[in-house]
Amino acid sequence: MARPQPSFACQACGAVQSKWAGRCEACGGWNTISEEAAAVPIGAGARRQGRGRAFALEALKSSDSEPARLVTSLSEFDRVCGGGLVPGSALLIGGDPGVGKSTLILQVLASFARKGGRAVYISGEEAMGQVRLRASRMALADAPVALAAATSVEDILATLERGEPPAVLAIDSIQTIWTTALDAAPGTIAQVRTASFDLVRYAKSSGAALLLIGHVTKEGQIAGPKAVEHLVDAVLYFEGERGHHFRVLRAVKNRFGPTDEIGVFEMTGRGLAEVANPSALFLGDRERQSPGTAVFAGLEGTRPLLVEIQALIAPAGYGTARRAVVGWDSGRLAMILAVLDARAALGVGGSDVYLNVAGGLRVEEPAADLAAAAALISSFGGEALPKETVYFGEISLSGDIRPAPQPELRLKEAAKLGFSAAVVPKGIKADCAGLRLIELSHVSELARFAGHQGRARSANLSRAKMES
Ligand code: TYD
Ligand code: MG
Repeated sequence: MARPQPSFACQACGAVQSKWAGRCEACGGWNTISEEAAAVPIGAGARRQGRGRAFALEALKSSDSEPARLVTSLSEFDRVCGGGLVPGSALLIGGDPGVGKSTLILQVLASFARKGGRAVYISGEEAMGQVRLRASRMALADAPVALAAATSVEDILATLERGEPPAVLAIDSIQTIWTTALDAAPGTIAQVRTASFDLVRYAKSSGAALLLIGHVTKEGQIAGPKAVEHLVDAVLYFEGERGHHFRVLRAVKNRFGPTDEIGVFEMTGRGLAEVANPSALFLGDRERQSPGTAVFAGLEGTRPLLVEIQALIAPAGYGTARRAVVGWDSGRLAMILAVLDARAALGVGGSDVYLNVAGGLRVEEPAADLAAAAALISSFGGEALPKETVYFGEISLSGDIRPAPQPELRLKEAAKLGFSAAVVPKGIKADCAGLRLIELSHVSELARFAGHQGRARSANLSRAKMES
């Protein structure tokens, strides 16, 4: 019989290679490749030993009704899950170390336990004392959550199989869980994959909702657990900028709900608080309108969200011009600048350009193009844009301004927060919610709008100065 070949896998991206190397060819990471337990070739044991067992094929239609969702009192969490946790499903929550994953999970479990559900928290990272201390600081110590500190998947399953299965089971984190079936070190891809597979299988057979926590590497992928994403039913990312208090929970995969929903939380001294009106959080101080800021009327999932986009165009220092973005894609900034240069004759080529989304949110909607372009034009001209105005619309390479989905929702949110005008793509058919609509079809009109407004404003100002 042929000896099983050793295989080597990158611990950062999961790429499998036939020999060891100092640098992973797939992701470029140094020192990330290590030997995996030699895999037994598929079917080697059972190969050709008799024939397979036939099973019955069944109809797609089911007589079972949709299972009841497990609803927490954290409605932001429930919304991102698609209306609560599904029994027997597995959910992966990824995020940077320290973002607040353990805090979130503790709140979710406590909420279930207080409603009478059996909630089990297995901590592989923190000692029981640390978890208890956090629970008492968050005033959750009275919630009947069953707690254990364990890392062996065999021990965990043996413990769970002894009692009544939990309604919700949380594992914090999958990088610390290991199985004795492999002699690879905990945290390696083979360990994470095997341990997660066993836990997911337990969840499916017992009907428990499984919450797996995973740390994210610098590259933004869930380390090792990238190999787990296909095993679970939903993947949520918990994100937040350093130095900001708010956190965003975002679904990137969900078999039971939409993937564009976000939940917004604020990290307080007593755990995470839900933010009911996130627009207020992401809008800067609007009392004093300064050049280079524009408010984008965005949409996150089913929810409208207003965010301030800030731009700064400054003369380039020595050497090549700098382009820096925060909360925005640098490729898209380059595209907008190129379109403004080519179609609206802005001429920012040699200047430094900075674009920032206020509050540390990340904006991915193409409809934000118009607000970014308005902020850039305003900064370039040194004139503030008119107050109380929101922007949305996608910009194409030809300079045309294209419509964005769900204009009514955006306009309604803007009206609710006291805005009086909206710069929108031409021909949107929407109830204007009491806002004055400024319809534009091309970026040259936007440039004129921003420029003219500026000149009109300064004329007004000097007139006001003369009169006083
Ligand atoms: P934690 O949930 O331990 O993060 P993770 O599990 O993702 O690594 O949260 C850690 C941070 O949250 C820590 O820096 C302190 C902060 N925090 C608060 O500000 N308030 C709180 O009530 C708690 C529990 C944590
Ligand atoms: Mg933690």
